[in-house]
Amino acid sequence: MARGIFITFEGGEGAGKSSQIRTLAATLRENGRDVLVTREPGGSPGAEAVRHVLLSGAAEPFGPSMEALLFAAARSDHVEQVIRPAVKRGKIVLCDRFMDSSRVYQGVTGNLDADFMRSLEEVAINGMTPDLTIVLDLDPEEGLRRATARRGDGSADRFEKETIDIHRRRREAFLDIARAEPQRCVVVDAAQAPKKVAAQIALAVSDLLHRRRLSVEEAGAA
Ligand code: TYD
Repeated sequence: MARGIFITFEGGEGAGKSSQIRTLAATLRENGRDVLVTREPGGSPGAEAVRHVLLSGAAEPFGPSMEALLFAAARSDHVEQVIRPAVKRGKIVLCDRFMDSSRVYQGVTGNLDADFMRSLEEVAINGMTPDLTIVLDLDPEEGLRRATARRGDGSADRFEKETIDIHRRRREAFLDIARAEPQRCVVVDAAQAPKKVAAQIALAVSDLLHRRRLSVEEAGAA
């Protein structure tokens, strides 16, 4: 069976990643594709245990490198237990946040050393680079408004509660990654109507599926 596909969704708070992932998963399934939806931090039993430690803020007093190591530990478990086996079985894996979130939240706004972050990423993903990364780009003020509305009475998590300036730096950092890796990343304007956002994501995915089909056919013809 052909290798599956690994697609990640990145962006700031309240950009609509989860609902866009649901929409894309439904569309792909209607077209007969085998889809697995997952998220980070979490996505495997081991990583879900670490998720609570990270999002409750329990690890915050120990500093950003401790948090980065925990995100990496969770990611490694998630990759080996869930993502890699699913892709091997030919599934399309849709993941809500992945390595770019660590690059941005821990690396850039956590001010961690670039070499340290690169080594951690290498160990955590162990070659499992996404085939496609959708960056949902949104003004952080609007994103936080949406995140607050969605949360209702619940309190902001460890990362949501930071200053608007930090959220702005994260937005720029995601855009920098997309500019540096245009073959992997597609930026979608998340301020548009959800249907428009969904259509642009679907286009990027069908483009990838088309290229994949062509390369399989070429390999077959060779
Ligand atoms: P989550 O509740 O999943 O929120 P969201 O809808 O924003 O994805 O919270 C995940 C939080 O963890 C989010 O604030 C980003 C942060 N995070 C990191 O700091 N580093 C990482 O590597 C990942 C995956 C997430």
